[in-house]
Amino acid sequence: MNQEDNTKKIILAIETSCDETSVSVIQNGRQILSNIISSQINIHKEFGGVVPEIASRHHLDNMNRVVEEALEVANITFEDIDIIGVTKGPGLVGALLIGLATAKALAFSLKVPLIGVHHIKGHICANYLEHQELKPPFLSLVVSGGHTHIVNVLDYHTYEVLGRTRDDAVGEAYDKVARVLGLGYPGGPKIDKIAKTGNPHAIDFPRVYLEQGSLDFSFSGIKTAVLNYINAQKQKGNDIHVADVAASFQMAVIEVIVKKVLHAIKQTGRKSLAMAGGVAANSLLREELRKACESEGITLYCPSITLCTDNAAMIGCAAYYEYMNGKQDDLYLDAYPSLPLESS
Ligand code: KG4
Ligand code: ZN
Repeated sequence: MNQEDNTKKIILAIETSCDETSVSVIQNGRQILSNIISSQINIHKEFGGVVPEIASRHHLDNMNRVVEEALEVANITFEDIDIIGVTKGPGLVGALLIGLATAKALAFSLKVPLIGVHHIKGHICANYLEHQELKPPFLSLVVSGGHTHIVNVLDYHTYEVLGRTRDDAVGEAYDKVARVLGLGYPGGPKIDKIAKTGNPHAIDFPRVYLEQGSLDFSFSGIKTAVLNYINAQKQKGNDIHVADVAASFQMAVIEVIVKKVLHAIKQTGRKSLAMAGGVAANSLLREELRKACESEGITLYCPSITLCTDNAAMIGCAAYYEYMNGKQDDLYLDAYPSLPLESS
């Protein structure tokens, strides 16, 4: 730990890894003073997914306004900032570069430390913002549009990945299945909503567990299974019951996730589980994990929906703990489109 620094620290954090331009001001890692999120969903939805070049251009257009708003809501000026945190990866390289260029310019002109943050560490840290009592060690399930990880969080800066997806991320599977069902982008929230009116046992989609005891995931097969089911029904001239397909799809996915998480809990002996990432906003996943954790005597932590999906407050929190661990980056800090959690 950075022993000299137990004074109040104000962090301005920037997140631009995908289609949200977000800037946040947080104090001492755990207190949010502002968390401005400017979403580009309305721009990308007409293309059925995020268009990287368009995302970068909008980050550029939005950035100054979002920075100003974050300062205004936090009621601070540039002079009050002690640390700049920024997502360095993984993510869309052009989008990351806009955040990095802004962060470097601010750190240079304000003469304050610059700290590059791994996006997934940020997602896990979102839990610290919402649950002041949460301290490592704990287990974390990271489920986002680009990642599916079971992580053993050993302390504030040591993360051991116990399992990960070998192909599609769970959010990616949601988005692809939603597209096939004609529900639009982003698919996760749409499937979540329509599935509530469907029968989760209507169609028996495959549950992929991989080798005995494996904590890895594979979600590409279920996407194909849904597509095959829809094509087969169309060929037979049957109507597709979208709510049943959505409900059965998510039940198949969530059953596997819950079983693997329970296995990881048994393997590590951890007593708490923190959910993280955009898919952690899913109501069925939250409910099924709540039931599973309750029956095993495990404390479950879920961030609020705003802190599950991409936001800069979680990056500020992660930056604070990196800083306290003595970490700082220089102005050569680069954007990393793929960046393993363990090596960051
Ligand atoms: O963490 P996130 O905001 O961005 C990444 O880092 O990828 O996650 C976005 C993903 C998308 O795939 C979106 O469809 C999914 O999270 N998502 C959901 C829900 N809300 C967002 N998936 C299932 N149910 C939801 N309610
Ligand atoms: Zn994310």
